[in-house]
Amino acid sequence: MNAPAETVRGGVAGWFEERLRISGLLAALLHVRIPVSAQTYYLGGISLFLFGVQLISGTLLALYYKPTADAAYESVKYITSVVDFGWLIRSVHHWGATLMIASVGLHMGRIFVQAAYKYPRELTWMFGVLLFAVTILFGFTGYLLPWDQKAYWATTVGTEIAGGVPLIGDALLNLLRGGADVSDATLNRFFGMHVLVLPLLLAGLVVVHLTIVHQLGLASPRHPEPRPVRRGGPAQPVDEPLKPFFPHYILDELIAWFVVLAALVVLASVLPAGLEDEADPLITPQHVKPEWYFLSVYQLLKIVPRTIGIVAPMIAVAILLLLPFLDRNPAVAKRRRPLALSAAVLAVIGLVALTVWGAQS
Ligand code: HEM
Repeated sequence: MNAPAETVRGGVAGWFEERLRISGLLAALLHVRIPVSAQTYYLGGISLFLFGVQLISGTLLALYYKPTADAAYESVKYITSVVDFGWLIRSVHHWGATLMIASVGLHMGRIFVQAAYKYPRELTWMFGVLLFAVTILFGFTGYLLPWDQKAYWATTVGTEIAGGVPLIGDALLNLLRGGADVSDATLNRFFGMHVLVLPLLLAGLVVVHLTIVHQLGLASPRHPEPRPVRRGGPAQPVDEPLKPFFPHYILDELIAWFVVLAALVVLASVLPAGLEDEADPLITPQHVKPEWYFLSVYQLLKIVPRTIGIVAPMIAVAILLLLPFLDRNPAVAKRRRPLALSAAVLAVIGLVALTVWGAQS
């Protein structure tokens, strides 16, 4: 008997198609059309690319890194000075973290400005906020791993702040440190979180995030999504021209990835990741400063009472998470969202001012 027409294909592609029947899935994934007015600036894809860079460079570092208080510092020194291109891989991982936090932050900014968090994308946004939180946790847990003075003391201060969280502070401090102080136990926990728990969590969240993005298609910054008329009536039609996602958008995205990769290698080569003296729990350095993305909280804690400095960022995260439900205005055009946009501008000015102040103090 003859095979069905669609399975009679030659070559390697045909061989796999007969066994996996994947062409239907690929067509469903790729042949999506997106609103012509949608401007993503490729930021979601760039965040995804940087996650890939972090996975690859982190895996290479893990081939030589030793996660114990006795050996961590020496192993990082060995990676930097003996292993071929070890310094470059470590610096790419260092700058990749900074660029990833920046690109996730900018991606969130573009979603906000274009009002793409509104109906029906509330869940896409909420999973995004979780992704942002996990990305920051990557930075926090990774910072301790070189086990130098900066790493040790910044983590001492950072975990102390976590210890100030109302009600659960003590338990959280103990959970993070694995004891009263930052020690070998802390390093083991942070390493486990950094290389196993967080990557799995981020990968799972990305899958959910992108599945919802695919299901809903990209938002139009010109028209609010038409809500279906109650009792099953048809949705109002929207006259929005569409463009194909594949190959046009994907090829542009690839170009963006190459540009980011080039920037990453230049940054890593010109400003390689540093290493201070080995951690010494008995010598407190004069100035303990966190990474740039924690400077605003660090500075806030210096100028307001401690409880306010700890609770205020938590409230900010809760507001961010619940934003699609707090902002009841259905409009997406910028001129019809003066309140949301001015509140965001003020928040960004405050964040930047605290960060700059924190960097200088
Ligand atoms: C690791 C972090 C993240 C990755 C890899 C990621 C990836 C993506 C990608 C590839 C897209 C489609 C293209 C684009 O809009 O650029 C997208 C869309 C979207 N993302 Fe993210 N994202 C991340 C974090 C976030 C964050 C932090 C938020 C907001 C809090 C967010 C909210 C959204 C929303 C609402 C859309 C739909 C946009 C639309 O329909 O126009 N994402 N994301």
